[in-house]
Amino acid sequence: MSRDYFERFGPWAIVAGGSEGIGAAFGEELARRGFRLILVAERDQPLGDVARRLSETYAVEVRSLVIDLAELEGQRRLIEEAADLDVGLGIYNAAFSEVTLFNEQSLQAKLRTLDVNARGALIFAHWLAPRLQRRGRGGLLLMSSLAGLQGTPRVASYAATKAFDLVLAESLWHELKRDGVSVMAACAGATRTPGYTKTQPKHAGALSPPVMDPEAVAREALDALGSGPSYVVGRSNRLVASLLTRLLGRRRAVATMGRSMDEQYR
Ligand SMILES: NC(=O)c1ccc[n+]([C@@H]2O[C@H](COP(=O)([O-])OP(=O)(O)OC[C@H]3O[C@@H](n4cnc5c(N)ncnc54)[C@H](OP(=O)(O)O)[C@@H]3O)[C@@H](O)[C@H]2O)c1
Repeated sequence: MSRDYFERFGPWAIVAGGSEGIGAAFGEELARRGFRLILVAERDQPLGDVARRLSETYAVEVRSLVIDLAELEGQRRLIEEAADLDVGLGIYNAAFSEVTLFNEQSLQAKLRTLDVNARGALIFAHWLAPRLQRRGRGGLLLMSSLAGLQGTPRVASYAATKAFDLVLAESLWHELKRDGVSVMAACAGATRTPGYTKTQPKHAGALSPPVMDPEAVAREALDALGSGPSYVVGRSNRLVASLLTRLLGRRRAVATMGRSMDEQYR
């Protein structure tokens, strides 16, 4: 990776939700590129294991912080941890999701989805974006999803929060680009992670592009940072996204996603 990338986004990066799946892959790819890291998650042991492995393998400093990113108090601890560090890149990757019909999802799960995926991302951007702006360079990457490009039945709450992340990142992209800060939403499709495996479909759907590996998603998303306000990761996912957003129109896009989700989870 070019020195330019590190100069632009280094030396410290925060991966919020960095203990497994795409978040751990972000951590690994950044450590490989020489970044020092703060990895954040709720569970102590998997987080500590990843942090140790990355610092031993890549000889970079890796700090781990166990907090709930949905809580203001948790993010206050993250701000304290990062206070004296030259943070050039923040990735908000943490998410909560359940695949279930809206009327069968508990209110608690709905609110948890909102708090982790949207409220947490907003708080993270609230404190990090001005720091990056003052610094005059850096990056902020929010993880979104194909599900957030239109209404997606059976993951209504999750899809709505991913639309929030997408629109938040796109708005900040415009506000901050003149100050040298690159903001981007990365829209992933199905990716082989613990989160995905938990809710793995029983059948293939008509609209199921190939499942990607988290390492490929993290690498491609990091490389795309700075290229525009949002980026769909993976060639097949980009085809699906342009079908949904350009060819079908809103009503048919939602109906197509609904049919595909029914096929997968019936
Ligand atoms: N996998 C897919 O198919 C897919 C598709 C499209 C988009 N995405 C997006 O990509 C991102 C990563 O997905 P993934 O499948 O890799 O997720 P995952 O396997 O569920 O991992 C989520 C990470 O976030 C942490 N986390 C969750 N809630 C947290 C909280 N409240 N506070 C602190 N840390 C928290 C988890 O650690 P702890 O459990 O220890 O907290 C874990 O490190 C998400 O934003 C998701 O929406 C994924």
